[in-house]
Amino acid sequence: MAVDLLLGLQWGDEGKGKIVDVLTSNYDIVARFQGGPNAGHTLEFDGIKHVLRTIPSGIFHDNTVNVIGNGVVIDPVVFVQELDGLDKFNLDYKKKLILSRKAHIILPTHRLLDAASETSKGKAKIGSTLKGIGPTYMDKTGRNGIRVGDLELANWKERYRNLANKHEALIGFHDVQIEYNLPELEKEFFAAVERLKELTFIDSEEYLQQAQRAGKTILAEGAQGSLLDIDFGTYPFVTSSTTTAAGACTGLGVAPTQIGEVYGIFKAYTTRVGSGPFPTELFDDAGAEMARIGNEFGAVTGRPRRCGWLDLVALKYTCQINGVTQLMMMKGDVLSGFEELKVCTSYMYKGEEISHLPYNIEPENVEPVYKTFPCWKKDLTQMTEVSQFPKELNDYIAFLEKELEIPIKVVSVGPDRKQTIHRD
Ligand code: GDP
Ligand code: IMO
Ligand code: MG
Repeated sequence: MAVDLLLGLQWGDEGKGKIVDVLTSNYDIVARFQGGPNAGHTLEFDGIKHVLRTIPSGIFHDNTVNVIGNGVVIDPVVFVQELDGLDKFNLDYKKKLILSRKAHIILPTHRLLDAASETSKGKAKIGSTLKGIGPTYMDKTGRNGIRVGDLELANWKERYRNLANKHEALIGFHDVQIEYNLPELEKEFFAAVERLKELTFIDSEEYLQQAQRAGKTILAEGAQGSLLDIDFGTYPFVTSSTTTAAGACTGLGVAPTQIGEVYGIFKAYTTRVGSGPFPTELFDDAGAEMARIGNEFGAVTGRPRRCGWLDLVALKYTCQINGVTQLMMMKGDVLSGFEELKVCTSYMYKGEEISHLPYNIEPENVEPVYKTFPCWKKDLTQMTEVSQFPKELNDYIAFLEKELEIPIKVVSVGPDRKQTIHRD
């Protein structure tokens, strides 16, 4: 059986959590392949709204095993809070949730280093979620990290102490004052590690290979978005992992030849949290309306998300890099009633019209060229089938499919699991 992938095609928060939850009934296993608690994946069903951070979005389905892959970074403190948040659902998560021994651990000092690094950057800050993501991946690639499997070893606390001491020295190198009480943070951290150890640790690449041989269906869940990818995103305003399709291979131990469908998710407009270039960003009433109607506030940090028109240049780029086979368009309902819609179809770049994403998309270099569409006026949120779609929405979808040369198979018309319309 092939492994299907689901990933975000913009700057994150496209609605990955919702769609993984919707698709999970078709899968035996859902596996997260990168990122950490910088993610906030929102699920809504039966009047409940729940945000997941590290735990895969298949957790609410009875017969699905949820794997946290080797490419993920885990903060035991946040993870335990997530587990506690699941208590009210009466899930047997000890059976349904398993962790790769090769996943790296976020230490309290990683979070402090993140804060020191961001503060020292001043106006040039990345706008990190401050969850310690960058420093933890730095220790991973620097070959200093502590992994889930290390927690089973007798000497891991010694290694922890050496690394934490090094981090404290590094914090001192940043010319900023960071207030912290490490003994308090460590108390919370070590208690959380004990809770983490109650879960099952596995060699997840072996588990997933065996599962495939046994004919199990697997969905790989991405976090963040392709434009936040460490290589292909808007560097340095990116996260520290491979958010694109290749990340599923390195983050789960799945071979490229084993990848099946690549589901790419995008909003009918664009949002971004944190710093960095955003060519189609709106600073007018239309942007404010998208933010208000779309409730565009970060699921993790509560920060307002910047809003703008759909950027087809960027979307084509991320579809190509990921090899997307099916598209899913989210939040079209938010645009109902807009007078008109715009889509950026090319950029004016240093006086020349281009249709690819150049090395530098800072505002001084790039000016979007727009195509304007009439917007649909009808409320989409109660619709249940494609035949109810207004003409303007069908025209918008047809235009995007033609430009991207990939079918839009799902149109989401609201946050609830049920507000999902499949197009054949
Ligand atoms: P993720 O990080 O990609 O899982 O996305 P987030 O959960 O951070 O942000 C998506 C937000 O949009 C959440 O609040 C969802 O409940 C909500 N959402 C998802 N799909 C739709 C949709 O089609 N319409 C509307 N109005 N909201 C949606
Ligand atoms: P989900 O999975 C949106 C952004 C941060 C910041 C940059 C680096 O919910 O889509 P980091 O904490 O990784 O050092 O932050 O990346 N960012 C996200 N933006 N959704 C996310 O995840 C994000 N995870 C990180 O705002 O600009
Ligand atoms: Mg999110």
